[in-house]
Amino acid sequence: TTHGTTHGTTPGTPPRTAAELREPPLAGGGVPFLGHGPKLIRDPLAFMAQLRDHGEVVRLKLGPKTVYAVTTPELTGALALSGDYKIDGPLWESLEGLLGKEGVATANGPRHRRQRRTIQPAFRLDAIPAYGPVMEEETHGLTERWRSMETVDCTAESFRVAVRIAARCLLRGDCMDERAERLSAALATVFRGMYRRMVVPLGPLYRLPLPANRSFGRALADLHLLVDEIVAERRASGRKPDDLLTALLAAEDEKGDPIGEQEIHDQVVAIVTPGSETVASTIMWLLQVLAEHPEHADRVRAEVESVTGGRPVAFEDVRRLRHTNNVVVEAMRLRPAVWILTRRAVRDTELGGYRIPAGADIVYSPYAIQRDARSYADNLTFDPDRWLPERVKSVPKHAMSPFSTGNRKCPSDHFSMAQLTLITAAVASAFRLEQVAGSNDATRVGITLRPHRLLVRPVPR
Ligand code: HEM
Repeated sequence: TTHGTTHGTTPGTPPRTAAELREPPLAGGGVPFLGHGPKLIRDPLAFMAQLRDHGEVVRLKLGPKTVYAVTTPELTGALALSGDYKIDGPLWESLEGLLGKEGVATANGPRHRRQRRTIQPAFRLDAIPAYGPVMEEETHGLTERWRSMETVDCTAESFRVAVRIAARCLLRGDCMDERAERLSAALATVFRGMYRRMVVPLGPLYRLPLPANRSFGRALADLHLLVDEIVAERRASGRKPDDLLTALLAAEDEKGDPIGEQEIHDQVVAIVTPGSETVASTIMWLLQVLAEHPEHADRVRAEVESVTGGRPVAFEDVRRLRHTNNVVVEAMRLRPAVWILTRRAVRDTELGGYRIPAGADIVYSPYAIQRDARSYADNLTFDPDRWLPERVKSVPKHAMSPFSTGNRKCPSDHFSMAQLTLITAAVASAFRLEQVAGSNDATRVGITLRPHRLLVRPVPR
């Protein structure tokens, strides 16, 4: 991983003195007292997408609070690579309260660096082939299941396969089958409730014994219980396979002491939770693309056939499925699962010549960046060929980083791309997908972006 070291400067520009720095302009469209809050709540994607018209860094007013939005690819890269910012802010605080404070996704500083070193080997490019058999089994298991289904509920099916692959590859263990089902049910409920708690912070009201609060509480408790079961079972088995869970159990802290039980627990939670909704949402969009653009589905199918000669697609084929890979990338460009990211400035600093005070909350939107007409010709057209080697050069640096960059970059980029490509290839080869009555593929904004309720009929090829 790269660790940001460009303190207080933007790559390519000389450091400026405090007096030379400008105040970022205020974004338009605010209203008294509430500022930009109403716009952000009504249509967050459209709101984020027009901010660059106001400046490279703009100030937003959310009630009494000022938030800084970064709107250009170059400056989002500078932000992600700088050591002047950490993971913090309201989004993270609400996540920590529910998922634990000691996991890699919310830690900062030396603990975060140590935790990344612990988990990294399990995600390295050369570790991925070991997961191939599970990815294949789950992918073909999915197409088999769908053969007997009249209608596929893409939300449930995508969640299921994403959680099963993450749990079986990264946590292994016996009884993982039954656990993966429980895990995916618990996570689906937890994510739904968590987003509501973030955007509508009603505090104590969420503790009232209402049915929705109860099922959220039960799902969260089950998630934590499952993680404890998985850890306890691995310990009791005495087995130490070369995997992520073994690495977590054997990890030592900065002083060389074994890490505590709470940290082990929080680490497992911090790895399975960001890994499930993100992959699941991306699968849903890929299914939407296959249903919406039969011509693209046909091209994927043709590529798979040319690579496999008609046998079932295997993990080994993935690296030769160039076009299918480009379909996945293009789907992630237009519908990035992670559509908003936040940071907090740890000291007075600057971005692009604009003054950023210590403690400032900063947001940026991969969705806005990846759809910007200044970076992409025919920006809203689904065009996987824009990722062909001869065309990809015209894409500005940092204009496509759905996994982010810098020291917080998603450790799972290779792991995710492999499974997404395999699933897309297998589904396009096995079925033609048609949306059915009752399906709604409009974008639903939550912790991730996904279709509201995608329902498809899988017509065997
Ligand atoms: C972090 C995206 C799948 C584990 C991140 C970040 C992004 C991201 C953008 C950086 C957050 C930030 O900068 O604040 C995605 C996307 C995925 C995906 C788009 C799939 C399409 C996964 C999977 C796993 C995973 C499958 C694990 C099984 C993590 C972890 C972090 C992270 C542990 C925190 C890293 C850190 O803070 O050092 N992911 N992710 N992600 N992701 Fe992913």
